[in-house]
Amino acid sequence: MTKKNIVVVGTQWGDEGKGKIVDLLTDRVAAVVRFQGGHNAGHTLVIGDKTTVLHLIPSGILRENVDCLIGNGVVVCPAALTKEVTQLEETGLKVKQRLKISDACPIILDYHVALDQAREIARGKKAIGTTGRGIGPAYEDKVARRGLRAGDFKNMFKFKEKLAAIVEYHNFMLVNFYKTEAVKFDQLWEKCKIYEKLITPMLADISSLIANYNAQGKNIMFEGAQGTLLDIDQGTYPFVTSSNTTAGGASSGSGIGPCELDYVLGITKAYTTRVGAGPFPTELCYDVEKDVGDEIGKILGTRGHEFGATTGRQRRCGWFDAVALRRSAQVNGLTGICLTKLDVMDTLVEIKVCTHYIVNGKKTLLPPTSADEYELVEPQFVTMKGWQSSTLGVNSWDDLPREAKKYIRYLEQEIGVTVAILSTGADRAETLVLADPFDS
Ligand code: GDP
Ligand code: IMO
Ligand code: MG
Repeated sequence: MTKKNIVVVGTQWGDEGKGKIVDLLTDRVAAVVRFQGGHNAGHTLVIGDKTTVLHLIPSGILRENVDCLIGNGVVVCPAALTKEVTQLEETGLKVKQRLKISDACPIILDYHVALDQAREIARGKKAIGTTGRGIGPAYEDKVARRGLRAGDFKNMFKFKEKLAAIVEYHNFMLVNFYKTEAVKFDQLWEKCKIYEKLITPMLADISSLIANYNAQGKNIMFEGAQGTLLDIDQGTYPFVTSSNTTAGGASSGSGIGPCELDYVLGITKAYTTRVGAGPFPTELCYDVEKDVGDEIGKILGTRGHEFGATTGRQRRCGWFDAVALRRSAQVNGLTGICLTKLDVMDTLVEIKVCTHYIVNGKKTLLPPTSADEYELVEPQFVTMKGWQSSTLGVNSWDDLPREAKKYIRYLEQEIGVTVAILSTGADRAETLVLADPFDS
């Protein structure tokens, strides 16, 4: 039987609309797998008048017959997991039976959050603008081989010993270097005893589950979080997250061989946004609190409701950056693109697309590899005519305005990847599938 394993990744700086598309496509899969990141993610699913925001739980949860798997690459915060499971179950969904967590997931505990926040304060003006969820410190513990993992909950005697050692280790830094409060071991241990009851029954061998589904010819969706330019290696370092957000992460973060992945779908906003600090060459600066700055930046932010689904922070907005997208196409090996939020641009008279950068007087088609080098970048634009009519909810190619079609075709040409899906509204139904990834 032919199965399809589809990887969904963000191609920009996150919040491209991954959650919406994963939810849409999961009617065709047996399971959705998260493979990196943690509850720094905020994935919004809109179905009719019901909006669900997911942080840690895969975006297949609204489909009753779909299993939701959390792969080894995800950092799991038991407190956040408890909250999310409870909230979803209150809406009548069966979550615990369908959610499986890899033993190998690093877990995020209070000292990670304390360290994340202390480091951001210490960085002052150079702060990364993290979500403050302890993501970076949890990945540090993983690669330093000292972290607690979800599987450690299976032996609470050993867990306690390991916890005592790691609390002592991190408290030394918190108190002596960051001059902040120590984490209280006793309180944390009491909480861990409660987390154990939630997590232990959900522990599973995710790699084997995936293999079994595939052996039965069933499709699987791999749901990326964040975006390509936030990738720890490929992004705008150090203004990045701490995981591999790119397609390769689907393999290492879940335990599936790379040759088993059939299709990489890059979710791409029709313009660009970024939340947190760091380079953003096509930014149209606008400050929502002071109501000052660029008018187009204001329109994109307002019409696009560009506020973080996790922290509520204002997202910075700007024109589409084809240079960034070329890098995304390259590092992810994109098979197709899903272009989202086209409707947000409906009222614009003119639309700009960044086609290349000038760096030290030279034309460059690909972005640099570190934030420092971005300081030299001068973005170059072409201007196109806006379509100035509503595309909200349009779900047939023929019904799109001529200029909107031109814009889409131009982006495809600049990036070198075709648009397989077009999203014209937040609702699951407001979508136009041009080339179904499952049929390709
Ligand atoms: P994710 O992190 O990539 O899943 O994206 P978020 O959920 O953080 O942010 C995307 C936002 O845009 C959410 O509020 C979605 O409901 C919304 N959205 C997704 N696709 C569209 C679209 O095509 N048009 C509009 N207007 N909103 C969309
Ligand atoms: P989704 O999955 C947008 C950003 C933060 C910060 C940087 C590092 O919803 O697209 P971290 O807490 O991960 O150490 O913060 O990464 N960031 C996101 N930006 N969408 C996200 O997730 C993000 N997750 C982290 O704002 O700049
Ligand atoms: Mg988001």
